[in-house]
Amino acid sequence: MLRMIICVSLVIFGRELAAADLPAAQPFGTTQTGDNVEVYTLRNDAGLVARIMTRGATLVELQVPDANGVSDDVILGFDDVAGYESSDNAYFGCTTGRVCNRIANGTFALNGHRYELAINNGPNHLHGGTENSLDKVIWNAEPFVSGDGRGIVFQYSSPDGEEGYPGTLNVTVTYTVTNQSNDLKIDYAATTDKATPVNLTNHAYFNLSGAGASTVLNHVLLLNADLYTPVDDTLIPTGSVETVVDTPLDFRQPQVIGNRIEELIGTATLGYDHNFVLNASNPGELNTAAVLTDPESGRRLHIRTTEPAVQFYSGNFLNGQKGKGNRTYALRSALCLETQHYPDSVNQPKFPNTVLEPGQRFQSSTVLEFSIAP
Ligand code: GLA
Repeated sequence: MLRMIICVSLVIFGRELAAADLPAAQPFGTTQTGDNVEVYTLRNDAGLVARIMTRGATLVELQVPDANGVSDDVILGFDDVAGYESSDNAYFGCTTGRVCNRIANGTFALNGHRYELAINNGPNHLHGGTENSLDKVIWNAEPFVSGDGRGIVFQYSSPDGEEGYPGTLNVTVTYTVTNQSNDLKIDYAATTDKATPVNLTNHAYFNLSGAGASTVLNHVLLLNADLYTPVDDTLIPTGSVETVVDTPLDFRQPQVIGNRIEELIGTATLGYDHNFVLNASNPGELNTAAVLTDPESGRRLHIRTTEPAVQFYSGNFLNGQKGKGNRTYALRSALCLETQHYPDSVNQPKFPNTVLEPGQRFQSSTVLEFSIAP
């Protein structure tokens, strides 16, 4: 079937892509439990190179040219599977779920049942659990070519009850690059056989000067958000939605990240670690979430998403761990822009719904577009 689609699209678009252009799998190593991990490489003509591995459908490398045409890897990660399995791995580049971010006290009730999840972040549940969260399991991978695009569909079936969540969840994450635009597109889809909360994101840590460069405090950030969700001392939303005006969270105009971060040091978030509610001009369509610019390299990252929110996390727990090429990942040497539904939505009736019902299909898309700042 896939081959038929490929042949048909080759005829329609008349491009030169052929079966030989299908991204090939390369070995990336073996997990502690003996599973083989493979990595796929996607490239476009503008010099973007993305490498994604089957463990956690994780983005392990993202090469992007700077203003002088010199490429560098702009995301944190490790050279091998052992690095990703180590305690130094703070969700670098992974697909995060079944529910990204926090669930208060690791529990929720649905259809008269109470579900208990792993408590792995203070008193709360974080990023889908401890053993078989989506970032830790091995996904199936199916490469494809379509028009002038190439991509990989990663698929995983999470059994009923895995990490305490109800329902068999069938998830796909599709990474695509094309020559139409200089971006990496990430599409998520999921179905279930029992009502279950779903909130999926990618946890890439960006430093547009290149992973391992000193800090991102000089980066300039715009967030398309008038509102955010304040949190308690354990980073669970209080339930209110408040304006960013007159706070260090006002990024409606581009702001240097380091300018106001000190005002947050004494707070529970230790820096930026907040859920911003996006101003969605077209709900359900791709809207701007963030524009991140590095004045040094000239690289610019424009993130668009169908999700209603984005978590801006300024790498407050990075602690000098050694990553790719033995480079040091110091405090605030990278930041995450995690497109998502609001944290703890399953316990917060006023927040947009995250419960997926049998017969429904969860779908969401996020596009990471790179350019050179004018
Ligand atoms: C998210 C959270 C942070 C932190 C990181 C992982 O961004 O909001 O508080 O847990 O993941 O280190």
